[in-house]
Amino acid sequence: MTDSLADPHLRYPGTEPSEPSGNGSGTAAASQTGAPRDIVILGSTGSIGTQAVDVVLKNPGRFRVTALAASGGRVELLAEQAHRLGVRTVAVAREETVPALRAALGAAYGTAEPLPELLAGPDAATELAASPCHTVLNGITGSIGLAPTLAALEAGRVLALANKESLIVGGPLVKAVAGPGQIVPVDSEHSALFQALMGGTRAEVRKLLVTASGGPFRGRSRAELADVTPQEAMAHPTWDMGPVITVNSATLVNKGLEVIEAHLLYDIPFEDIQVVVHPQSAVHSMVEFTDGSTLAQCGPPDMRLPIALGLGWPERVPDAGPVFSWTEAMSWDFFPLDEEAFPSVPLACRVGALGGTAPAVFNAANEECVEAFLAGRLPFTGIVDTVAAVVEEHGTPDGTGLTLPDVLAAETWARARARELAVRSATATAEARA
Ligand SMILES: NC(=O)c1ccc[n+]([C@@H]2O[C@H](COP(=O)([O-])OP(=O)(O)OC[C@H]3O[C@@H](n4cnc5c(N)ncnc54)[C@H](OP(=O)(O)O)[C@@H]3O)[C@@H](O)[C@H]2O)c1
Repeated sequence: MTDSLADPHLRYPGTEPSEPSGNGSGTAAASQTGAPRDIVILGSTGSIGTQAVDVVLKNPGRFRVTALAASGGRVELLAEQAHRLGVRTVAVAREETVPALRAALGAAYGTAEPLPELLAGPDAATELAASPCHTVLNGITGSIGLAPTLAALEAGRVLALANKESLIVGGPLVKAVAGPGQIVPVDSEHSALFQALMGGTRAEVRKLLVTASGGPFRGRSRAELADVTPQEAMAHPTWDMGPVITVNSATLVNKGLEVIEAHLLYDIPFEDIQVVVHPQSAVHSMVEFTDGSTLAQCGPPDMRLPIALGLGWPERVPDAGPVFSWTEAMSWDFFPLDEEAFPSVPLACRVGALGGTAPAVFNAANEECVEAFLAGRLPFTGIVDTVAAVVEEHGTPDGTGLTLPDVLAAETWARARARELAVRSATATAEARA
């Protein structure tokens, strides 16, 4: 057990560098013998997953993918990935997609090659998370990623964590099973903090500065946000991501989730974590130290760099991401956050400080509201308003002894309540407009 879940000064036994001085054991032996590191990719067909596959295919001597998991929504892509990577096992969460996956695998492999083992069902990704490998990349979207996160940690795998929701909804559960340095963050902001934190000791950290692009609606007032459409919300100015995180970036709920994630990963109090709006997404986050020095990590926005660091830690993968051309003029801007237009960040801080089941309620209510917004059933500002109402109704949870059933029950309640309130909000909006 550790207070700081991701600490660049602490190396989990599986993460020793491959130099002869390394003294790791078990699966770490692979990196010391120069053999590729075995990786399991969960959520391989998504934005994070496909970029992770790119990183692996570019570095065949460094990484080898043993297994892939997805929901089952993109079986042709999954089959093609399995074939290109030569994986042992492929898993889908939705059993009804198995016939289509079998057909896609047959088309990708032909008749001469043996097909990989197939797993199906809601626990398939969790099973793969505990399968023999060095590092598990959790690139599943949503709090459904919690069980695989816990399984990977309990099995002693290094966890390259993109699925922030699992940490946020199950913070104390993750803390109880994670070894020191066992998690390497993949979220670009937390990867930046991880790298900047190498610049001093924990006692020398004064503040974490988490940067936010501000999303597509930066600079708008709350009134100007009332009528924005899903299409507008999906047009993120700097990052190309999955639908949920893209809408969360527009409401800045994603930034709120990231503040909770930073608090849990680095054990820094909420009052010492500040969000700074930075439209260019060039500086991925910063650490202010007690002597007044601020260290920033920067680079063109491209998730392949933090993914490669997550897979390869503690080594850097050469040419993992693009670099700036410093011979060309460019300028970067920084603004304070408008908390009136984007109340999600202070709301998330309150929820994070409450702890217990409150973060699970916040996240689950938000996932429901995002779905309702994308389906045209809830106005944009209704997302955070509804989430705030559900959180308020949930009250102050018991912060001790959190269990997985507690989290699941809180999520079920929050989803149902958010759906009810979203319907009311939509009806009220329609009546007001009539
Ligand atoms: N995208 C980014 O740039 C970015 C940056 C920072 C952090 N993150 C975080 O990374 C995570 C993934 O985001 P994303 O943008 O890559 O999402 P995404 O594009 O929507 O992809 C989600 C992936 O998860 C799979 N999946 C869903 N439910 C599953 C289940 N029950 N079992 C196994 N796989 C399942 C999906 O499979 P199907 O394709 O079959 O549906 C897909 O492969 C999120 O937590 C997000 O907050 C993303």
